Amino acid sequence: MRIAVPRETAPLERRVGLVPDGVGRLVKAGNTVVVERGAGASAGFTDAAFEAAGATLADGFAATVAGAEIVCKVQRPSPEEAAALPSGALLISFLQPAQQRPLLEQLAARQVTALAMELVPRTTKAQSMDALSSQATVAGYKAVLLGAAHLPRLLPMLTTAAGTLAPAKALILGAGVAGLQAIATARRLGAIVSAFDVRAAAKEQVLSLGAKFIEAETVAGAETAGGYAKELAEEQQRKVLEAVGKALPGADLVITTAQIPGRAAPRLVTDAMLATMQPGSVIVDLAAETGGNVEGTRAGETVTAHGVTLIGAVNLPSTVPYHASQMYGRNILTLLQHLLTKEGALQLDLADPITGAMAVTHGGAVRGN
Ligand code: NAI
Repeated sequence: MRIAVPRETAPLERRVGLVPDGVGRLVKAGNTVVVERGAGASAGFTDAAFEAAGATLADGFAATVAGAEIVCKVQRPSPEEAAALPSGALLISFLQPAQQRPLLEQLAARQVTALAMELVPRTTKAQSMDALSSQATVAGYKAVLLGAAHLPRLLPMLTTAAGTLAPAKALILGAGVAGLQAIATARRLGAIVSAFDVRAAAKEQVLSLGAKFIEAETVAGAETAGGYAKELAEEQQRKVLEAVGKALPGADLVITTAQIPGRAAPRLVTDAMLATMQPGSVIVDLAAETGGNVEGTRAGETVTAHGVTLIGAVNLPSTVPYHASQMYGRNILTLLQHLLTKEGALQLDLADPITGAMAVTHGGAVRGN
């Protein structure tokens, strides 16, 4: 197979679709891998490292994807890039399929089969392909560092000749993949951590990381069969706000990560609740791009409300591009290994639970997933 890895062109995107380790494995398995010159530069992977792994370098998007049967990217292609994809190629990248219908139509019209990395099923078999999880891990870690850097206090307890400092209190709202990594990171930095989630299953995981779990008065049936959170009924949402509201005044650093797939992010902190917080406290809102968990958050901006710093975090994985690319590249590699037969042929079986769940265009049409 001829596999292409273009340079990412979306603003502020520093990751790359495959790293030299994955390229080496694919080349050893008999594939040709073409990497756009400079594709890994902003993530810390040099052209020389890709070449040493067996890649061929090409200049520019069009030359990189020319003749490719598979194109691996991080972000969705721009309309110009989509127009340059070879007809009949397989595209693997994040695609935001629910919001990007015109792009999907453009890809389908070019007979491109597109697999959306957002749609990797959350099954044991697909776990090593799960880019939402790998990138959420990076985001949860970085959110704590970002918040800590904006805090006017230290996180750990310190006993020094100049006196004893009390540890900071961190509150993590949403204890999914990002939230659990935020808990672990804040604990490592010495904060006292508590966390909240509507899914009952989250409690045990929070406790196992040494954090306190904040109980809301019975939020029943808040979980789908797939393990995701559901949108809450009004009465349940009121109970959530009440539980969160009680915890906020004592928190120095708050990381919010609550998401509901396909919906706007749930509101967990209102403006009135911000007013109860200590001045100088910091909130990092990881749901900023889907509307924010906090009233007043602006995606990509840092603002102040009632003396609280609100950080509308956007694409944090791209700010740790080396390891984010390493993990994303491993997700892509495992997916490719799933799609390629022993003889090295591409097997696109839409009845397969992984391929079928991810394919958003195929055979000239947009598929309903
Ligand atoms: P997510 O990014 O969709 O949401 C983040 C967290 O916010 C979730 O824990 C969710 O329950 C929580 N949340 C939603 N509404 C809330 C509200 N109103 N108040 C408080 N919290 C709220 O979820 P993520 O992190 O992608 O994972 C969700 C679940 O899927 C987790 O249980 C995770 O362990 C599981 N999972 C399973 C995998 C597998 O089996 N292969 C792989 C990855 C995750």
